[in-house]
Amino acid sequence: MTAQDFIPESYNSNIKKDTVKWESPSNIALVKYWGKREHQIPENPSLSFTLSNCKTITEVTFTKKESKDFSFDVYFEGKQNEAFKPKIQTFFERIENYVPFLRDYHFKIETSNTFPHSSGIASSASGMSALALCLMSIEQKLNNIDALNTAEKSFEEESYFNKKASFLARLGSGSASRSIEGELVVWGENESVEKSSDLYGIKFEGKVHSNFKNYQDTILLVDKGEKQVSSTIGHNLMYDHPFAKERFNQAHNNLKILTEVLASGDTETFIKIVESEALTLHAMMMTSMPYFILMKPNTLQIINKIWSYREKSGSNLCFTLDAGANVHLLYPESETDSVLKFIKEELVTFCENRQYICDHIGLGANQL
Ligand code: DP6
Repeated sequence: MTAQDFIPESYNSNIKKDTVKWESPSNIALVKYWGKREHQIPENPSLSFTLSNCKTITEVTFTKKESKDFSFDVYFEGKQNEAFKPKIQTFFERIENYVPFLRDYHFKIETSNTFPHSSGIASSASGMSALALCLMSIEQKLNNIDALNTAEKSFEEESYFNKKASFLARLGSGSASRSIEGELVVWGENESVEKSSDLYGIKFEGKVHSNFKNYQDTILLVDKGEKQVSSTIGHNLMYDHPFAKERFNQAHNNLKILTEVLASGDTETFIKIVESEALTLHAMMMTSMPYFILMKPNTLQIINKIWSYREKSGSNLCFTLDAGANVHLLYPESETDSVLKFIKEELVTFCENRQYICDHIGLGANQL
């Protein structure tokens, strides 16, 4: 498919006012997306677990209008929010060719997160995917697809819906393209995953061993402040980065290894690849110009604690990091009790206000 395939011909329905609503989860990358080209095309493929509890709930009320400029209001957790508007304006500008009804309606966007806003958890993946899905539901209504009975909705339609939702979400925020479906999503063209695309994320359809079913993700909130480096700045630092080429090759290779590991259930190699991906992402920022350290001392304390816990107990617990100081603890469901005990006894002391969030792999977004 090409981007052209997402440009609609015309709409056959004329709606004056209606409402759509979606909830969409966050995701955690195992192979990291870091570096992009124009039009939000990733420099390397990424693979993520879709989460379940950390999500954004977005309701969009659309009302027909006469003027042809973009018109929208944003409410975050019940209050009008001006701070989110520029990002949404940019998003609308990027996607208007693909959803031309954007200029015909006024949109009231009401959104909230299930996780605290100032938790250092990026809400762009769940937020942009929820909004993209709302726009797709509006498009469906304008195409009168709602009128079809569900049984008639073909597999092709659902697959087109998800692809286009992911395609639009990507134009809002790259990682958002991986939040439409679950349990594992691949975004970025690569040789290991058939039908993978730079334009949208696809559900990973390969074999997944029972070891990785319902994997747990407990997020330790080490630093709840604003991110030190925005992802846009971070991605841009990969231009002219001395190690960029090697890093992009490594991501392809790690993705290949992980697809094999997911099938075989080899948790030992899983741990090696996932932790190395996290540390490489941070290393890229330490070796860019200008350079940044995105970890905090407590991030390192936690990593060292995990390593000694693993050595002592033989546990499969491992960590991954986003472009910040918080630590995601990944572990099999069978270890939930022992890992939570370890967190409470040894790790909460390194969390801001002793806070952490328990999550696990999920199945993707839901229409409400
Ligand atoms: C470190 O998706 O936030 O979380 O496309 O500029 O919105 P933009 O970037 P964003 O980058 C996320 C980077 C990451 C790794 C990942 O999720 O793959």
